[in-house]
Parts: sequence; structure tokens; C-alpha cells
Amino acid sequence: MVSKMFRSRTIAAGIAVLALGLAACSSGDSGDAETAGGDSGDGGAITVGFSQVGSESGWRAANTKSIQDALTAEAGFDLSFSDAQQKQENQIQAIRSYIAQGVQYIAFSPVVESGWDSVLEEAKDAGIPVILTDRAVDSEDTSLYVTFIGSDFVEEGKRIGDWVSENLGTEPINVVELQGTTGSAPAIDRKTGFEDAIAGNDNISVIASETGNFTRAEGKTVMEGFLQAYPDIDVVYAHNDDMGLGAIEAIKAAGKVPGKDIKVVTIDGVKDGMTALAAGEINYIVECNPLLGPDLAEIIKTLESGGTVEPRIVTQDEAFDQAGAQAVLADREY
Ligand code: AHR
Repeated sequence: MVSKMFRSRTIAAGIAVLALGLAACSSGDSGDAETAGGDSGDGGAITVGFSQVGSESGWRAANTKSIQDALTAEAGFDLSFSDAQQKQENQIQAIRSYIAQGVQYIAFSPVVESGWDSVLEEAKDAGIPVILTDRAVDSEDTSLYVTFIGSDFVEEGKRIGDWVSENLGTEPINVVELQGTTGSAPAIDRKTGFEDAIAGNDNISVIASETGNFTRAEGKTVMEGFLQAYPDIDVVYAHNDDMGLGAIEAIKAAGKVPGKDIKVVTIDGVKDGMTALAAGEINYIVECNPLLGPDLAEIIKTLESGGTVEPRIVTQDEAFDQAGAQAVLADREY
């Protein structure tokens, strides 16, 4: 039986369904984790520990709000929330503290992809199911978590690369890349997807690629360095809107016109990014949906009532050019 639980915008057809009422668990031998769990909160609320990456971007702010708005006391949750300030050690510490508290579920968005096996094994040994939101881990043992819900970052990078190739790569162009946080799933995957998409187009040269750590300030600083080192930049590919917006500040300070002299393509689709796109300072945005809170809540409720979930749930993202941004900006939720 297929659940009707997810709102249509969120789930890619064929992959993202929850299967309710099935006897077997869907991700390896994670059954013990799904059925054990810790103590419920006051009044029978479901206790959840959530470790957030940080507050590096507009996307992250929208994601945090979505989670906190969904996992409320009124909805039957007792949420403990922590901000790791982009540091893996802080997240490991937070997860250990949730294990010690005996929460029923742990959810987190991993700062980086690797180095999680030990702490996830501790959660598994404690019988606490772990749900990955937004970002993946590279653990080979998929029984260490119940499910991973989030966007397909490789696809996002590929969509940017396809657009650049088709719309700008009809003549020789120099691209500079602002990468996300080094070692994070979105930085790795968005780079890979972009490179795959442009591989067949000899007109496109990526002349520089550095991390801007997903922040506006670092995006600006790195772009200032690029502008000094390379007088002939045609396109900036920023792994998120915030770094793209920082790059726009640097481009303007250098006396050039963003969106015209230097084209700007980004990923996220937050309000500030969409505003810049509508104004013509960004040329193309591939969306990354941050509104994962309601789905996280439903995943936990499903597990709590004895159901199972698919091991990978892919959120659906749109893409926007200037006209597309102008059409949706007024109603944009985040
Ligand atoms: O993991 C999602 C990414 O993290 C967003 O694209 C970026 O803005 C955030 O920092």
C-alpha cells in the first residue's frame, strides 16, 4: 500500500513514496532501530533531536524554520534543536547528547559527507532511528539510518551545466566556480553534475574553482580574488544563491554589470536570489527545496505508527529564468 502522505511538490515519482504497513524495513537491517527508540516526552510527545548544519545561508534559515514549524508540541513533538555552526565536531557532540538523553528519533543534516560511522553506530546500538535530512553521508552501511530525504544535488548541478552549455556555451566562455563547503554533499555533487553536463562542450573552460563555504561574505571575498586574477571572466557558477549574491557585490565593486558583463548562475531559489534573478543580476537559478519539516514530521509519525519508509526520498526542484522568477516572486514562501 502506498501512503498518500507527501505533498505532490516534494516527491519525485516512482522513488519517493512511503510504504505503510509493510512488515519488513526498507533499508537493510534497520528494523531494530525503527522499533526500539528512547523515551517519549511529557504527555506522550515524540522526542526528536535535530542537529542543524548552521545558519550559513538564506536556504538554511528557511530549512530551520520549516523544521521548527512542523515539529511543534501541537503536532505531538518534543523537539530539541541545535545549530552546529558548520562544524562536524559540534554535530557529533549534539548527536551524542541526544543519545544520552534517550530521544526517540534523531534527525540531522550532515555538515560534511564522511566520518559518521562511529556516532551512527552508537545511535543504532541505543535503538534510536536516525533520519538524514537535506544532505547525505557516505557510510557504506545504510542500516545506520532509516531514510535520507532531500534534493538530488548532482541533478541540480547538471541542470545548471545544461543551461550554461545551451545558452552561453555557443561561443568560448570562461567560467569561475564558487563551491559550497568543502567535503559537503552539495559541494561535491553540484560540482560533479556541472562537470558532467559541460563535458562535451569544448567552448566552456572552468578557469578557477574555490570554496566560498556557502556564505555571502566568503562568496564575495573569493570573487574579488577571481576578478583580480582573471580579467576575462564570462560566467560565475555559485553552488548557492548567497555566494552568488556575494559575487554580485564584488562584480559591481569592480565596475562590471552582473547578469550582463558577467553572467551569474546559482542554486537554491531563496527570496533574495529570486529577487536578483527577477532584476536581471542573476541569469538562472535551479531551485533546492528547503521546506523539509512537514515531510520529516510525517516520516516520524509513520515510523511511530509501525510503518516503514523508503530509504531515499527525493524532493522535487524547479528552475527559473528571469521571466519565471518575475512570475512567482510575489508568492514565494521563502
Ligand atoms: O545543503 C543545502 C545547501 O546548504 C544549500 O544549497 C545552501 O544554501 C546551504 O548552505
